[in-house]
Amino acid sequence: MIALHDIRYVRIGTQDMDHAVDFATRVLGLELGARETHAAYLRSDDRDHTLVYLNAPAHEHTVGFELESLGELDQAAAELETAGFPVHVGSASECEQRRVKAFVSFQEPSGATIDLIAQPWHSGRSYFPQRPIDITGFSHVGLYTNSPARDQAFWTGTCSAKVSDWIGEAPLLRIDEVHHKIALFPSTRHGVQHINHQVASVDDLMRSYYFLRELGVHIRFGPGRHPTSGATFLYFEGPDGMTYEYSTGVRMIAADSDYRPRQFPFRPSSFCMWGSKPDIPEFKT
Ligand SMILES: [Fe+2]
Repeated sequence: MIALHDIRYVRIGTQDMDHAVDFATRVLGLELGARETHAAYLRSDDRDHTLVYLNAPAHEHTVGFELESLGELDQAAAELETAGFPVHVGSASECEQRRVKAFVSFQEPSGATIDLIAQPWHSGRSYFPQRPIDITGFSHVGLYTNSPARDQAFWTGTCSAKVSDWIGEAPLLRIDEVHHKIALFPSTRHGVQHINHQVASVDDLMRSYYFLRELGVHIRFGPGRHPTSGATFLYFEGPDGMTYEYSTGVRMIAADSDYRPRQFPFRPSSFCMWGSKPDIPEFKT
């Protein structure tokens, strides 16, 4: 089985690079680490980068997961091929673009591109937020799934994720102690459904709520609190229609815990225990 050590980055296409970079820095609060002809690298923590905008169609999404070692990456590539997922081995220039020592990419069953990477670049500089917000880092993605049971089997079976809870058909999956780093939401689309950054406190969340509202950013859900992860959240619209989320206070599940996943019904109170109603199609009941 493939052990995903951590979620590392999202790479998404944009039709308007200047607008995307402006949003990511001035609105979201990320730091522009580097801008090249066809890519902008954004930072949210001590790592080299955690979000990349590419001059590419906006529906092109890649999620990068870090493995423990080059040896585990080789083993993962072989396991994926055996399981029927052809892998592309990253060339030297593709590794340079991703700031990693090595990677392989493949399509997960619903069609999103996944990079498995080894030895990603660390940064010698700490992250410097571009507005007064204490972002503690990139933390999870929602992915669209066109077959939740099949995709749950892939992530738990081939990639050793664990189910933390379900909302209706949607599994929330953990790869370490954080309640979820991947969540699969039924849809006819494929790729990234939302991008989450953790913030330090409810103060960061609520300050951001009023700041975003003042800028006219479309708030899609919240402020609210998830009964599953226990996190307080705010979802809003970013460039190219992507949904971004801040959250804080996510539940941790220790590796040796006797925690059992819980089934939540597909209803509004399973998404927000405070009564906020989502303007996000996959969360609407
Ligand atoms: Fe989320």
